[in-house]
Amino acid sequence: MQVTGKVVVVTGGANGIGKALCEAFHRAGAAKVIVADMDSGGARAVAASIDGAAFQCDVAQEKDILHVIEETERQFGPIALFCSNAGIGGGFDPLSENAGGISDEPWTKSWAVHVMAHVYAARHLIPRMKARGGGYFLNTISAAGLLSQVGSPAYSTTKHAAVGFAENLAISHRAHGIKVSILCPQGVDTNMLRSIPKGPQSGDGDLSPAQVAEDALRGIEQETFLILPHPQVLDYIRKKTENYDRWIGGMAKIQARMRETYGE
Ligand SMILES: NC(=O)c1ccc[n+]([C@@H]2O[C@H](COP(=O)([O-])OP(=O)(O)OC[C@H]3O[C@@H](n4cnc5c(N)ncnc54)[C@H](O)[C@@H]3O)[C@@H](O)[C@H]2O)c1
Repeated sequence: MQVTGKVVVVTGGANGIGKALCEAFHRAGAAKVIVADMDSGGARAVAASIDGAAFQCDVAQEKDILHVIEETERQFGPIALFCSNAGIGGGFDPLSENAGGISDEPWTKSWAVHVMAHVYAARHLIPRMKARGGGYFLNTISAAGLLSQVGSPAYSTTKHAAVGFAENLAISHRAHGIKVSILCPQGVDTNMLRSIPKGPQSGDGDLSPAQVAEDALRGIEQETFLILPHPQVLDYIRKKTENYDRWIGGMAKIQARMRETYGE
């Protein structure tokens, strides 16, 4: 799909990858880019720089997503591309004392932001997209949704669930002209990455948000389901599926090195 002349929504658009996506869509000639974020000041600043529009929105709340969809379509026209990009990095423990954690808090938060937000976007856009014969979802997930992230069980598990949902979304609605892409980078130089201890996510180098956004734009133009800004990830997935036990062993070695680095 070409974004030229289209209405596009980006959640988590105030910072990092989302901000770079908004800028890339604007440069590519989108008719209107909607910046939806909890950070209303940041969203307004990004929107002002690209002649877009800003909405304050907590993607964990279905009513907020519905409001963004209804108001965007009322003010600017049909949403051609909805990017569920907002994400949170909580629950990181490089020592992995207990993968089950000590409370539900990081799990329920991550589930709401990384999974249910994508479900809500689909729930309220699919009927509209079906009625007009198509549409596009870009869901920012992570290589952690394909491979796991050492030290971050809640992040890894919910990102895997997000991959599962996106696959099902693509399968269920291909016949309705609805396309889906998942954006799965490793380390990207954003506030989120800077907020967690350095680790294997940066093993192949951290990319700039702008680079990742350009890759996403190319993936959407080519209508590719899996967008991998770090191409090495494809090889890692192949190795994982070739020999799951060897892969778990290799990841456990990475965990052991992290315990040495961050241990008491
Ligand atoms: N940075 C990385 O290394 C990396 C790697 C792989 C995937 N990702 C994914 O990319 C996406 C963007 O992350 P980023 O690195 O740009 O992070 P970031 O922290 O720079 O930006 C995240 C944005 O999401 C917003 N946000 C968070 N929770 C929200 C909520 N409930 N409702 C609305 N907005 C909310 C924040 O206000 C912020 O503007 C996330 O889904 C993240 O998991 C990041």
